[in-house]
Amino acid sequence: MPVAIVTGGSRGIGRAIAERLGADGAAVVVNYQSNRSAAEQVVDTIERSGGRGVAVRADVADPTQLRGLFDSAEERFGGVDTLVNNAGTARFAPIAEATDEDYELMFSLNTRTTFVALREAANRLRDNGRIIVISSGVTATHRPGSGLYSASKAAGEELVRILARELGPRGITVNNVLPGAIRTEALAAARSPELTAQVVASTPLGRIGEPGDIADIVAFLASDAARWITGETVHAGGGLF
Ligand SMILES: NC(=O)c1ccc[n+]([C@@H]2O[C@H](COP(=O)([O-])OP(=O)(O)OC[C@H]3O[C@@H](n4cnc5c(N)ncnc54)[C@H](OP(=O)(O)O)[C@@H]3O)[C@@H](O)[C@H]2O)c1
Repeated sequence: MPVAIVTGGSRGIGRAIAERLGADGAAVVVNYQSNRSAAEQVVDTIERSGGRGVAVRADVADPTQLRGLFDSAEERFGGVDTLVNNAGTARFAPIAEATDEDYELMFSLNTRTTFVALREAANRLRDNGRIIVISSGVTATHRPGSGLYSASKAAGEELVRILARELGPRGITVNNVLPGAIRTEALAAARSPELTAQVVASTPLGRIGEPGDIADIVAFLASDAARWITGETVHAGGGLF
């Protein structure tokens, strides 16, 4: 049974990914930061579908706690095959108005977390494993107001391309997935309904994305069927970018 860690697996996109990987037969470590009951609900769903899961608290911005997350996976399930680096956050502001605090937050919670998690995965994943990083379509659309968020995600995407080359000899694939606007609590907090309506109007497939749209793509990249795809960037925005 493959073992998967999903960072930020308790809500939103990460929740859908954790439930889908569990339904596909993985033992899933559902990481969360503060909302234990949400993470436990995800584990319940996985177990009701016949899978195995465990909720593990860790602030993935802290390298020590991140190491502890891998320790928990190894102790509970014997090793790690798949890392889905999903936890992250967005703040939008024109560059002229962005604060030093915005900068620290974006580069700590998006770039540093990705670096620390990829480093740990590079050292601890079993051969033929899978690493999938959830970035964002903002790195492809270059919209005003997305500067710090986009820059912090773009750095992670480059780590993915290079790590794919470093881990290729071990059969480990490393890929980016770039969601467009996806219906989650984070989206509701970060974007007005008017802005979301504008995104829908310019999306060829004519709707906002759902967490399950991204979970299906991640499930494919995590599967044996995707063994020949590495260092790639999947644009998952319904044709928006
Ligand atoms: N939603 C979108 O439209 C969209 C579009 C493009 C890209 N993305 C990317 O997709 C990812 C998930 O976004 P989302 O919208 O699903 O977010 P969300 O609904 O806010 O969920 C965030 C998840 O991350 C966890 N988390 C936050 N900070 C953490 C930390 N420091 N350590 C561990 N876990 C942490 C939360 O745990 P708790 O439950 O404990 O708080 C929660 O499980 C992010 O990387 C985001 O940038 C989202």
